[in-house]
Amino acid sequence: MNQEKNKDALVCINGRFTPPEEAVVSVFDRGFLYGDSVYEVTLTYEKVPFLLETHLRRLDNSALGIGMNLEWSPTQIKDLIQRGLKHFENDRLYIRIMITRGAGEIGLDPGLSDGQNLYIIFKELTPQPQKYYDDGVSLITAGILRNPKKSVDPNVKSGNYLNNVLAISQAKEKGAYDAIMLNAEGNVTESTTANIWILENDCFITPPLEAGLLGGITRATLLEIAKKNNFQVKEENFTPKRVCGAQEVFITSSTREVMPVTQVDGQVIGNGKPGPRTRGLHDLYRQYIQEVIGQEKKKVPWNHD
Ligand code: PDD
Repeated sequence: MNQEKNKDALVCINGRFTPPEEAVVSVFDRGFLYGDSVYEVTLTYEKVPFLLETHLRRLDNSALGIGMNLEWSPTQIKDLIQRGLKHFENDRLYIRIMITRGAGEIGLDPGLSDGQNLYIIFKELTPQPQKYYDDGVSLITAGILRNPKKSVDPNVKSGNYLNNVLAISQAKEKGAYDAIMLNAEGNVTESTTANIWILENDCFITPPLEAGLLGGITRATLLEIAKKNNFQVKEENFTPKRVCGAQEVFITSSTREVMPVTQVDGQVIGNGKPGPRTRGLHDLYRQYIQEVIGQEKKKVPWNHD
């Protein structure tokens, strides 16, 4: 492992804090064997985790979606995060919370588990290069599909991302930033780790949850912001062809916020530059972050003694 790279990292395993090089998991952990786990990713602004309670609610929902009743309460997880953050000086951290169904005798039956394991990784956030926001990024349409909702529902943020791993490999092979994943009907769902939006006739459109995608917290926040600002906005299915013909395209996630897309499958979107409406929405999102962080700082003494 590159120690230098993980200098500013810390791991909490079942409540015990350890340096990353000592953070090891059992080979019998079902998260390792089968991807039998759920996870969340959030990040801090000014040392304060952003929308942590919403992430913990989604963690709970993901767990329920795979028949797991979490053995840690949101309060316990929040306390551990608060303790973990005290180890850092950095304003900007990446926080990954994972709960696996646990270790046990090898076998698919969940009844073989000895009890769940909680892992929290804290590490310095590697920001997305500014160039991506200035110039936009490129996407391809992946050949591999997102799971149908009747398989593991993509709205469950599980530790099994193999379809998405294959999809992003296809993107990287073609020199693209990320891949659009379709469902079996040929409609767009999302990218490998972000939700996707198009602007068409000045209306912001993102696929509905029924298309089979993760209900992104950034996506939900932006739907609210767009409605509050009286922008035209809707959740509607669309095909890759409509993406290529859109006025503007962008992807959204906690770690990327609002990232403009200027090329899809080799076709230039709009005039090839990040669109003004995408920028406008991103500005409003940033204002919202400031408001939320300001309120949080008043409520919880996050990293401040
Ligand atoms: N990914 N869709 C997928 C498949 C995702 O994995 C993510 C998040 C999103 C965006 O969700 P949110 O707005 O709540 O971050 C959409 C995280 C960032 C990750 O895996 O690193």
